Amino acid sequence: MTEQKKTVFSGVQPTGAMHYGGYLGAFRNWVALQEDDAYDVIYCIVDLHAMTVPYDPHEFSRRRLETAKMVLALGIDADKSLLYMQSQVPQHAELAWILGTLTPTGVLNRMTQYKDKVEKGIPSSLGLYSYPVLMAADILLFHADLVPVGDDQKQHLEMSRDLAARFNNRFAEVFPIPEPLIPETSARVMSLADPTSKMSKSDPNPKNRINLDDTPDVIRKKIKSAVTDSDPVVRYDIETKPGISNLLEIMSATTGRSIESLSDEFGTGGYGRFKEAVAEAIVAELAPVRMKLEDLDDAEVARILQKGALDARTSAERFQQQVRDAVGLGRIE
Ligand code: AMP
Ligand code: TRP
Repeated sequence: MTEQKKTVFSGVQPTGAMHYGGYLGAFRNWVALQEDDAYDVIYCIVDLHAMTVPYDPHEFSRRRLETAKMVLALGIDADKSLLYMQSQVPQHAELAWILGTLTPTGVLNRMTQYKDKVEKGIPSSLGLYSYPVLMAADILLFHADLVPVGDDQKQHLEMSRDLAARFNNRFAEVFPIPEPLIPETSARVMSLADPTSKMSKSDPNPKNRINLDDTPDVIRKKIKSAVTDSDPVVRYDIETKPGISNLLEIMSATTGRSIESLSDEFGTGGYGRFKEAVAEAIVAELAPVRMKLEDLDDAEVARILQKGALDARTSAERFQQQVRDAVGLGRIE
């Protein structure tokens, strides 16, 4: 008997450049899962989500394509994975509406990302508030079993699981309960400029992060100026040495070496030598991505997205009919 393949689904917002935090936390797993025959993988550029913060339409349009290009440069292969743009598949928004009718506002009020964003000055809107409902719709639309994301998405994933269960209890057993796939190390890569907050694309300080398309020289400069402490020993201590601990985690996740062996090698050699090694490890890791990025042309990316949208719509329509039937919105014969 052949085991049924599991469905993997994940998304990335086309806001700002993709960075090394997302790479270690999520995108690296995207590529690995695509190579595993046990999975059908679907990756989505979630442009509707990106509209929940203020944006410029011209810049946005360019960013959507750039993000797709970067996903391809990371090694996502359109012959092995389904890659498409969320806004091209209207079933996402339809399912979000249906799931919204099952979402208590009390649950949304507890979402920490919503609260953080509003605290940072992003205007509160119904779209921003219901962001996690749309994310649940993304995941449930294709009956995903596994969702590779960084640690910051844990609470949203929990809500998707809750909504799947609510739907199944209220109407019919339609959705599998999706599992998060969060790496054990580097699930939350911290900012280079302030190692007590996460590396993020919304931080106005560009030194906070390594972008996946940064040149080797820019990577070296950013790592060199990463905030550390004045005790010169390279060792892991998240409380008193958050900067060095973050660099150790990044280095460990990048090279596959344990933090212990890295501390042994670099312990007393000074921060300069350690930072140089970290920078070179990242430069080497991203070299193939840079090469691929230069090779890809925009017309090819557009063609892949058009084909992806067509396939995604066909499959989404089939799944969505089950949902419509279950909730009483079936075809009128
Ligand atoms: P975003 O860049 O916010 O669209 O996130 C894309 C993916 O990267 C999501 O799965 C996030 O959970 C993950 N991610 C974003 N920032 C980090 C970070 N600093 N550390 C680890 N994972 C991250
Ligand atoms: N909220 C996710 C993030 O900020 C992006 C996202 C939207 C997503 N829909 C998704 C991730 C579905 C995984 C699955 O990173």
